[in-house]
Amino acid sequence: MRQRDAVDPADLPALLLPWFARNARVLPWRTRRSAWRSWVSELMLQQTTVAAVVPRFEGFLERFPSPAAMAAATEQDVVDAWAGLGYYSRARNLHRAATLAVARHGGTVPRDPDALRALPGIGAYTAGAILSIAHGVRAACVDGNIRRVLSRLDGRDRTPRDLERRAQELVPADRPGEWNEALMELGATVCRPQDPLCGVCPFGGVCRARRLGRVAALPAARARPATAAAVASHAWIERRGTILLARRPPGPLGGLWEFPGARVARRAFPRALAALLGTAATVAAPRAEVRHTITRWRITATLYDTALACRPRPGPYPELAWVARARALTFPLTAAARKLLAATAPRSRTPHASAAPPAPARPPRA
Ligand code: ADE
Repeated sequence: MRQRDAVDPADLPALLLPWFARNARVLPWRTRRSAWRSWVSELMLQQTTVAAVVPRFEGFLERFPSPAAMAAATEQDVVDAWAGLGYYSRARNLHRAATLAVARHGGTVPRDPDALRALPGIGAYTAGAILSIAHGVRAACVDGNIRRVLSRLDGRDRTPRDLERRAQELVPADRPGEWNEALMELGATVCRPQDPLCGVCPFGGVCRARRLGRVAALPAARARPATAAAVASHAWIERRGTILLARRPPGPLGGLWEFPGARVARRAFPRALAALLGTAATVAAPRAEVRHTITRWRITATLYDTALACRPRPGPYPELAWVARARALTFPLTAAARKLLAATAPRSRTPHASAAPPAPARPPRA
């Protein structure tokens, strides 16, 4: 049943859409539109900020201008092009989904909700966003921004299912994509989690939370899963001005590069490293330490100056590479490796590593 003083949903587009027309940020996926551009942008924006996506978007689309172009590339090509955007399972899913879009839908982005949802990496939110924005289908998409706007507009929290229902009921039959994007925009720029700009909000006159003085309290914070502390040790191994990087095997962060390492403390690290690289290792002083959170783990990662007794072998790592420091920055590194590298001031010599015999010659990979 509708709340006694609730606003008529039919009145809302006339408030929001003119505001959006005046205030929409100029973003690359908005200035030129296609279903593929929508798909890629929604995927990139899932766990990455607009500010981080904007400078990467056109380059990625130039490299993969269509599902067919992506399907013709390897998964590693796509992961490489995704470097720095994080959450690489999105890149792997996108490659698989593009391949399926070619096989099943002639290289198009399906407008049938079930066909779209059947593609890897496309959940309820992404499907709703693509269907409405790219295909003009009357579909809702509830992300964190939209949840906040609707909770405040209605002055109450809802269960996820109830919120989906409410979002769906509000989507206008004409201009559904514009409506959804406008809600996202309002959440990102006006109806912000902290310091909302209620004075300039197009919903200011109909916002129930505002009337009740409950804007700051809505939506209620979701319980966060418990986190746990862990340590990781990584090896900085130099030879002839290059450093050793290792590509991770399939599995968590598979295909990304890191400094050889393991989730162990320093004491257990030489043994772990010997098992990873097939040669004895002398672990010396820490060169850098960073904190990094991934899923529920709060990891303290330490990078140790390390020397190897013999030439390393790939073993559990499918690939090893000796690369110059500057070139390492261009590799698709894990976020922890990227932080460790950034925390490592360029140095020409490693005094501690010289305590062990130098590693035998191995040319840098081309
Ligand atoms: N976040 C998720 N999708 C978006 C979009 N289309 N525009 C701006 N921010 C977004």
